[in-house]
Amino acid sequence: MGGQAQAGDGPVVTPGDGSRRDFRAAVLDGLSRPQKAIPSRYFYDERGSALFDRICTLDEYYPTRTEIGILEACCGEIGRMLPSETAVIEMGSGSSRKVKPLLDALKTPCAYVPVDISREHLIASARALARQYPQLTVIPVWSDFAKAFSMPALPAKSRLIFFPGSTIGNFTPEAAVSLLSGWSRHIGLGGHLIIGVDLKKDPQTLQAAYDDSAGVTAAFNLNLLARANRELGATFDLDAFRHRAVYNADEGRVEMHLVSSGEQRVCVDDQPFTFAAGESIHTENSYKYLVEEFRDLACAAGYRSLAVFTDSATLFSVHVLQVRKLRIGEAAL
Ligand code: AVJ
Repeated sequence: MGGQAQAGDGPVVTPGDGSRRDFRAAVLDGLSRPQKAIPSRYFYDERGSALFDRICTLDEYYPTRTEIGILEACCGEIGRMLPSETAVIEMGSGSSRKVKPLLDALKTPCAYVPVDISREHLIASARALARQYPQLTVIPVWSDFAKAFSMPALPAKSRLIFFPGSTIGNFTPEAAVSLLSGWSRHIGLGGHLIIGVDLKKDPQTLQAAYDDSAGVTAAFNLNLLARANRELGATFDLDAFRHRAVYNADEGRVEMHLVSSGEQRVCVDDQPFTFAAGESIHTENSYKYLVEEFRDLACAAGYRSLAVFTDSATLFSVHVLQVRKLRIGEAAL
């Protein structure tokens, strides 16, 4: 596979994020705001990633198994819609589990480019996948998919971005449009985007998915404070905050918060922050869409909808999109 970097060579490295310095800046900035907040991307340290994996197996957390069911059921059809000799770029690839039915369904996929911020996880998963697909050139890219990064040269006729898991839900609709329109330059005119999007549904189902009875999501949320204590020497008392998840119907999103039980003071980096009883730190937004709403969003980002697949209960959707228009006003065009 002529001169291409292989998984065994280690990843194509672009400056990673998620470093302690970024985390500190994000916490200090977020806690200084009128509505205190910490960005959800900092959930995923080693312990947070392990807790997230557990969330994905919970009865109440329907998205993971539902999306995998849709992908398994529809991959044949998806594969027939896509060109041969395609490079598959997966954003936030994690353990590269969901891409397999897609790779199996594609006619001669020629490269797989997992992009992830967690370096060790990325390398191990890329190696494992390269072993299972010996014909495939695997080129891991260690990067934050939400930031601009340069795409390695790929031995492919066309490109496809795979973005499962409804991670797009962590972005506001405006930020989602700008992320997806930026990606159109990685895949090029006529290239494809396959994206998993969680759907609007009754608030009870949503609430339960983000506030499970075993308390795993609560532990996942609270781990953000534990991480601040571990990495930044912050003084959060984990027993003095509790997990809250609510569906905000006006905004079309589930919000997660950490609510201070009483009045208290917490230090981060010798900087004191005070909390009133009941005051919260907003830690995550998870936007939910109607199929048509997301189609419109994709259209605004320069894509046309080729197909949408859902499960029989319309809990979750997988959209197959094609780049119709590259983002204008960029020097690289
Ligand atoms: C990884 C962003 C898709 O929003 O459902 C799961 C993260 N947060 N439980 C989601 C999450 C709480 C998840 N995403």
